[in-house]
Amino acid sequence: MSIRLPDVIRKKRDGKALAPLEIRYVIEQYTADTIPDYQISALLMAIYFNGLNGEELDVWTDAMLHSGVVLTHNHVPGIKVDKHSTGGVGDKISIPLAPAVAACGVPVPMISGRGLGHTGGTLDKLESIPGFNVQLSIDDAKAILQKHGVFLIGQTRDVAPADRKLYALRDVTGTVESIPLIASSIMSKKLAEGIDALVLDVKFGKGAFMRRFEDAQALARTLVSIGRRADKEVHALLTDMNAPLGRMVGNALEIRESLDVLNGGGPDDVRALTVALGAHMVLLGKKAANFDEATAMIEAVLNNGKALQLFADVIAAHGGNAAICENPDLLPAASQTTSVLASASGFVAEIDPMKVAMAALSVNAGRVRKEDAVDPATGVELKVQVGDRVVVGAEVAMLHHNGAGESEALQYLNGAFAMSDVPPVPSPIIREQIV
Ligand code: URA
Repeated sequence: MSIRLPDVIRKKRDGKALAPLEIRYVIEQYTADTIPDYQISALLMAIYFNGLNGEELDVWTDAMLHSGVVLTHNHVPGIKVDKHSTGGVGDKISIPLAPAVAACGVPVPMISGRGLGHTGGTLDKLESIPGFNVQLSIDDAKAILQKHGVFLIGQTRDVAPADRKLYALRDVTGTVESIPLIASSIMSKKLAEGIDALVLDVKFGKGAFMRRFEDAQALARTLVSIGRRADKEVHALLTDMNAPLGRMVGNALEIRESLDVLNGGGPDDVRALTVALGAHMVLLGKKAANFDEATAMIEAVLNNGKALQLFADVIAAHGGNAAICENPDLLPAASQTTSVLASASGFVAEIDPMKVAMAALSVNAGRVRKEDAVDPATGVELKVQVGDRVVVGAEVAMLHHNGAGESEALQYLNGAFAMSDVPPVPSPIIREQIV
């Protein structure tokens, strides 16, 4: 029986479930360029409105996953575990996390993305380390995993190619904000990495993809259910993104802050999230008997320099200058800094992550279009965090820039801080855990 696209579109439009054969046909043929964008656009919009049930979602994800190569790492013993974040402002957690977890004996094959729009990307941050190459061949990456227990690379062209095409189409057809489409997009890529288990950091709030907690919760549950039905162990943490994470937003600046964490310090929120996500990964990697033991293991490798040493080894293996670990001044630095001063006295009630992100974008720390170049040195250094008490005229942020975009960035930063006469009610960084 031949499958006709207009019938498939009508079926989903009318709220019926698609058959596995229909789904596989659509994904295979679209990846092979034999179905035009206009038909897939109509189908995506029908899915946007009518969703996919559990079975459809599993088949849709599996078809995307098998649209390209599926990596395996059988040459490395142990349970391979990765982490995925849905993205936020100042989210540099992968950088201290990956070497810390690997230093606890859990292999971490980490494939990360670039920043687009207001969220930063791990690859751009790593590339601010002089010489660091994220575009290794799969064979070279596998050799680094075997030797050091972790690699940090970008997605190759052959991993989940259906997602690359579908994501580009969703971006221009108003069909990004669909839980089944987001969940299948994320999980197809993660499952293609050759992992055994996954920890998800699903963010909610002003600086997140999902602003409402309930939407992030629904996404987290969907992601976890896809992973578990694919026989992977998955934990998810729902974490607060109503303020930037840590004090640094910008590529080399975030590497500096990551080094602080790898030296046993760093801002409380960055350290706490690194430890929590790391403990879940160590637990899933079966290197600890319980969560407390896993937490103590991550804390130990952050405090005793083992995670930092491993990061230095991995930087060198990726062709980068490992001396930045001893001397962060070898990282690129902006030629100019401009202070932002508090406009009133009181408690810092809010630091708007979108305004901070837009300020960083204005000085080219991120990219608006895929092909934009990123300035590794620029960004925003926050001098206060939510809850701090400040007096009018005190420095609340410092803009690091190279001349371009300064006045636009300062406009954003001047509007980013809300002050209050009373201290704000602290909100926990981790709101819920799905284990
Ligand atoms: N990240 C992804 O990888 N895919 C989406 O659809 C949304 C965020």
